[in-house]
Amino acid sequence: MNRYKSLSIDFQIWARSHQSSFEELLKNILPQSGVAPQRLHSAMRYSVLDGGKRVRPLLAFAAGELARADITRVNIVATAVELIHAYSLVHDDMPCMDNDVLRRGKPTCHVEYDEATALLVGDSLQSLAFQLLAENKLSDDAGHQLDMIRLLATASGSRGMAGGQAIDLASVGSQLSLPELEFMHIHKTGALIRAAVLLGARCGGVLTGSELAALDHYGKCIGLAFQVMDDILDSEADTITLGKTAGKDAEQDKPTYVTLRGLQAARKMAAEFHDEALDTLKIFGESALRLNEMADFILFRKY
Ligand code: IPE
Ligand code: IPE
Ligand code: MG
Ligand code: MG
Ligand code: MG
Repeated sequence: MNRYKSLSIDFQIWARSHQSSFEELLKNILPQSGVAPQRLHSAMRYSVLDGGKRVRPLLAFAAGELARADITRVNIVATAVELIHAYSLVHDDMPCMDNDVLRRGKPTCHVEYDEATALLVGDSLQSLAFQLLAENKLSDDAGHQLDMIRLLATASGSRGMAGGQAIDLASVGSQLSLPELEFMHIHKTGALIRAAVLLGARCGGVLTGSELAALDHYGKCIGLAFQVMDDILDSEADTITLGKTAGKDAEQDKPTYVTLRGLQAARKMAAEFHDEALDTLKIFGESALRLNEMADFILFRKY
């Protein structure tokens, strides 16, 4: 397989069209800045809009297409996951965590506003995500919808993203084993990516249990590939391209695949996770085209 192949024009058009309609959706769903409390609402919009690759929403759309899901329903789950992700970034950047000043090419939320506002932005984005899942119809079966809400709650909390963040912070300066590092990545980044795939798919009604299990495994593999690439880019790319401060992991003595194994081995690992993800999709044939392309997008991204 040619590792340097570029993404097809067809995929790029698909991704751009979803990214731009999704941006409009976010603008409408987020409380307007003129509505009280204005400063909090303005900071929420600042942290979510105009930036970000929207990888998780794109994954939900790709999985939704596979499951022939209603796009109105997929829009809701894609928004919910992206709001949780945006909240995780706002908190991740705060002085008590990674202490970053740049995010998506702009000053981080606590720098542009203040720390208390950044804390409340995270809280409010998280609540809004669950409000959306509770007040919109995602399934004709109420029990199924409750399962979907539970899925995102688990992926976000101490058994998911927040738990992974706790491990990340506790690991500063320590030498993790490879399985420990993988455990951290599966939680801090993989959990939300996996949730995006599964929730997009679960908006449709046509997948069997084993097909959902295959999608879950695909999500696990691309979640790992995603964080390995994040670690590689942190050490290789420049701040302008990344839109966030380059070289932070080394500066803060964070254990990563790059620090543990070196760049070349990290690249190999990302490629292996990517290939395993593609293997997992084989059972779906052509209908998994967009998910295949999303795995490529994650591996070949430059920021
Ligand atoms: C960055 O995520 C944080 C990680 C989980 C590694 P993204 O690279 O998806 O950030 P945005 O949303 O595009 O800014
Ligand atoms: C953050 O990982 C993961 C989450 C926000 C949950 P990083 O700390 O590596 O993300 P960046 O590099 O700041 O985007
Ligand atoms: Mg971090
Ligand atoms: Mg960080
Ligand atoms: Mg990083």
